[in-house]
Amino acid sequence: MAKVKVGIIGCGSIGTSAHIPSYMANPDCEILYFCDLIYEKAQSQVKKYGCGKAVTDYFEVLNDPEVDCVSVCTHTDNHTRVSIDAMRAGKHVLSEKPAARTYAEALEMQRVQHETGMTLNIGVVNRFRTTPNRVKEIIDAGELGNIYHVYVAFRAHRSIPGIGGDFTTKAVAGGGVLLDWGIHFFDEVMYCLGDPEPKTVTGNAYSVLGVDIPGYVFKSMHSRAPKYDGVYDVDDFVTGYIRTEKAPKVPGPSISFNGAWAQNIGIEEMYIDFIGDKAGIRLNYYGGYTMYSTMNRTLIEIKPDYDEENGFQNEINAFIDCVRTGKKLPSHIDTVIITAKLMQAIYDSSDTNREIVF
Ligand SMILES: NC(=O)c1ccc[n+]([C@@H]2O[C@H](COP(=O)([O-])OP(=O)(O)OC[C@H]3O[C@@H](n4cnc5c(N)ncnc54)[C@H](O)[C@@H]3O)[C@@H](O)[C@H]2O)c1
Repeated sequence: MAKVKVGIIGCGSIGTSAHIPSYMANPDCEILYFCDLIYEKAQSQVKKYGCGKAVTDYFEVLNDPEVDCVSVCTHTDNHTRVSIDAMRAGKHVLSEKPAARTYAEALEMQRVQHETGMTLNIGVVNRFRTTPNRVKEIIDAGELGNIYHVYVAFRAHRSIPGIGGDFTTKAVAGGGVLLDWGIHFFDEVMYCLGDPEPKTVTGNAYSVLGVDIPGYVFKSMHSRAPKYDGVYDVDDFVTGYIRTEKAPKVPGPSISFNGAWAQNIGIEEMYIDFIGDKAGIRLNYYGGYTMYSTMNRTLIEIKPDYDEENGFQNEINAFIDCVRTGKKLPSHIDTVIITAKLMQAIYDSSDTNREIVF
């Protein structure tokens, strides 16, 4: 069978650390193009892997009829435009998370997916990791009983990424700790619970500790160097409460959450608690899970021991398979759109200081 032909659009951090090596390790595909606005970044990948052509204009990739699919690894402000252009050019798309800066942009991407029939998957990589899938299997099997509450913690002490740069500029990233980091946690929650519909959302997003860029105190800057004359207009702390509904219109679990890129509390917390009437699970972000229950009138704790597969490799393998077979993946825009709606509602609730009711 002919190999699937791939174009990479955006040869920055996630493109070079996750997408490109995963395509290179998949025997069923080959990369024809490395595209980046900065030619040297694209050219360095051609040199490194000894394949493909370096280009700066992504339309050169899209206009080549040989190309079957593209990975969109640009920053978030370009996800909508590049993905839509790619689908209209007849290419299947895997676009990085978050789907887009706003729910409206994500809806536009979904509309064009429906119009063109091309695949549009979003890089919600946790849906391809071992731990969330193990937890989902346990939940689907009813082992936790009725899950009535989920608590989500994504709190760091000082972890604003590249302050003053793309990550902290709303026009580029769309949002801060909630949209950049929290989205991974919310996506895991939605996946494990079977994507229940949000019914009411209350949120508060704060932009506090990063606002004075030169005055921000940190030990080491996450992701990239600070830009002291840059922009900081995104959230660095967020909290809220969500009610959900499961089909056919029965109350689903409520969800409460706290997230911080930076806070004046010296702790790091990264986990999701699924609290059921038979058992509970703490899913540690990137660190396995513990199940709490009772047996024979005794409290028990189960800490399973297993190897975590490479989620990015699984994600790329599944994408290549889906390009060939047309199979709908759990990362399809039709599924991910609920999380985009949820993120928007949290920001809207915060901006308007009221509860959003769907
Ligand atoms: N799935 C994950 O865990 C994960 C991790 C990190 C980043 N991301 C997401 O990946 C995206 C990119 O983040 P990053 O850290 O790799 O950013 P980055 O700035 O390191 O890389 C983006 C690259 O895209 C290039 N680019 C921008 N516009 C372009 C265009 N029109 N055509 C061609 N190239 C273009 C830039 O020159 C840059 O090299 C973000 O949306 C981010 O949220 C996802």
